[in-house]
Amino acid sequence: MSEQQALRERAVEILRGNDRGGYTIPTAGLYPFQWNWDAGLTALGWARIDEPRAWREMSRLFEGLWDDGLLPHIVFHVPSESYFPGPEFWGAPHQRPPTSGISQPPVSATVVRLLLDSARDRDGAEANAAALYPQLLRHHRWWHRARDPGRTGLVVSYHPWETGRDNHPAWDAPLAAVPPTTTAYPRRDLQHVDGSQRPRQSDYDRYIYLVELFRSLDYAPDKLHARSPFQVLDVGINAILARADRDLRALAGRFGTAAEQAEIDAWTQGAQAAFERLWDGTIYQSHDLRAERRLAVPGSAGFLPLYAGLCDRERATALARLARRWGEQLRYRVPSTAPDHPDFEPRRYWRGPVWAIVNWMVADGFARCGEQATAECIKADTAALLANTGFYEYFDPQSGAGYGGGAFSWTAAMGLHWALN
Ligand code: GLC
Repeated sequence: MSEQQALRERAVEILRGNDRGGYTIPTAGLYPFQWNWDAGLTALGWARIDEPRAWREMSRLFEGLWDDGLLPHIVFHVPSESYFPGPEFWGAPHQRPPTSGISQPPVSATVVRLLLDSARDRDGAEANAAALYPQLLRHHRWWHRARDPGRTGLVVSYHPWETGRDNHPAWDAPLAAVPPTTTAYPRRDLQHVDGSQRPRQSDYDRYIYLVELFRSLDYAPDKLHARSPFQVLDVGINAILARADRDLRALAGRFGTAAEQAEIDAWTQGAQAAFERLWDGTIYQSHDLRAERRLAVPGSAGFLPLYAGLCDRERATALARLARRWGEQLRYRVPSTAPDHPDFEPRRYWRGPVWAIVNWMVADGFARCGEQATAECIKADTAALLANTGFYEYFDPQSGAGYGGGAFSWTAAMGLHWALN
């Protein structure tokens, strides 16, 4: 068996080991439920070995969809004591199964389109995609209505956990405006992973404060908009949504009405213009809506407008040049924070390490925008990390050491779907 083949078999073992009956936990202990964007990206891995199982991952995720269209960041299908905050603390109203009360980067429509386009079982895929389409549309309408009430073309996030890049240094400034919780609570994550690789206590105290605030407001979008002290236009979520809108548009062409197609086209047009607000001349950056200022900490998410197809040739070339410059300072790309930024920490969660899922999106973006060579380098770096280190949650961009959870589902899935092909 070739080394590549052996790695792929290990990736399959990881998915099977993390399967909890139609949904996949990200990793045992640290993350014992179904997470939103993990589910989508993990489904891409399942599709390589078991198409019905990939569709099942998506339908189980959408069991958590709220009436108003919020797709929660966690679905608590089965109780577990190894994670905090659990369903009681979130106190989300009337949900069966219980869920959290914020969302996560909306990869689902992109995943459904990819599953449909690559399906060997065409009829099964058509039926599954047709069943999911109305729920995807509801979810996208929620983003554009609940999280962009002023119709600016960019959606707001009220919690660092919603961005999926929990403790990225760009959130330090807006998070400083959030008071710490006064409630005592357990750091269950530190029972699984060393504290030097996890968010600091001062960050966690503010994550928990925000959950308590949102719970007290019944997660009502208008109240969150009026009251949340943390309000950012995250370049990551916005790029992922812009890409997903395009994929949803393709699905609408097959399963939707003309009015729905026009509605989605309007979102895409709005985003196209609005993204210019996030371009700083070198890379795309998030924006603090409360303080009305750019959150100037370059990182991997700043390349994601490529993945949304929002960059012309000239901009794609400029971004490829920047990626090359970072590559000269590091063994492995793409770091979550720029290596020459003072807040770069190569081991601590989203403050420096490399994530296979983000690498896939960035590489997809470079390939899509004509920078094939950069896309190939990122793929090669990712494959080398998986081969040299294993399927960890994230990796040190200098040493390649693996950190966080081991036997991690979306890392394995990215191996099967992309890096080990
Ligand atoms: C962490 C990550 C988030 C991910 C979750 C499960 O909270 O920051 O992006 O979805 O773990 O893997």
